[in-house]
Amino acid sequence: MARRPTIARTVPALRRALAKADRGDIALVPTMGALHDGHIALVRRARRLARRVVVSIFVNPTQFAPSEDLGTYPRTWAADIAKLTAENVSLVWAPTADVMYPEDFATRVDPAGAAKAGLEDKFRPHFFGGVATVCTKLFTQVEPGFALFGEKDYQQLRVITQAVRDLDLPLRIVPVPTVREKDGLALSSRNVYLSTDERAAAPVLYRTLKSSASRIKAGEVIAKVLADGANDIARAGFVLDYLEARHARTLASVTSRDDGPLRLLVAARIGTTRLIDNVAV
Ligand code: PAJ
Repeated sequence: MARRPTIARTVPALRRALAKADRGDIALVPTMGALHDGHIALVRRARRLARRVVVSIFVNPTQFAPSEDLGTYPRTWAADIAKLTAENVSLVWAPTADVMYPEDFATRVDPAGAAKAGLEDKFRPHFFGGVATVCTKLFTQVEPGFALFGEKDYQQLRVITQAVRDLDLPLRIVPVPTVREKDGLALSSRNVYLSTDERAAAPVLYRTLKSSASRIKAGEVIAKVLADGANDIARAGFVLDYLEARHARTLASVTSRDDGPLRLLVAARIGTTRLIDNVAV
């Protein structure tokens, strides 16, 4: 039987649990819990990089706007710990909100560049400041040599990669490909919000990304391809926030295939659920 991981809830307890480990021995997987096979893919990739895998579980209030789902974000603590036990994770870093953000907390990381690309930031202006602040804290708390991030949240991956470089943080950000359901829907903790009909409609996002990517690769005009894609997504019952082709590293706008490497990114709402996805061209 695998052993349950140690659960650290304060910075001193975390430091004690990691006392004898070097940076190069530690790989961190930051999460907000409600773990699914996408998170587990990060854990398995982490295991190949370092002896000690630390998974953080913290539903970070600073990346949610007051109107968003902080209060109802899925919390599945017992199931999460069972999954991490099965993966032989030895340490879970699960600070409470007042450990992460004491009452007199006054310093934030304010990312620009990819964080102001006009994609997620346009619809969730709080988001990347909150993510960059909490990830910087997680990196200085855990002191890992590696931190794993999913390509599923592509703009987040770019923002964190840039922040680590800009702040000379001594770790490597390792991207992990998106894990999907058989019908292409990207796994997400928020998929549990989908009704049966919404779930049936949801694969249109990945289908549209894939077909748009192949048309762009074949030389079709990007604007026309994306206009067709937007129509397909709307016809399936989604309200589109964006469907865009961007430079894969900077996330700057592009007009032709030669401006690339390119990434296609989509965000759309169905009912009360907002889904995002992306693919390489
Ligand atoms: P969360 O949504 O829990 O995701 C944690 C990590 O799992 C992120 O790096 C995300 O990209 C990755 N992930 C989610 N779904 C995935 C999938 N289908 N395939 C591969 N990887 C996937 O992202 C966050 O939490 C937070 O913003 C966080 C970075 C923890 C900061 O609070």
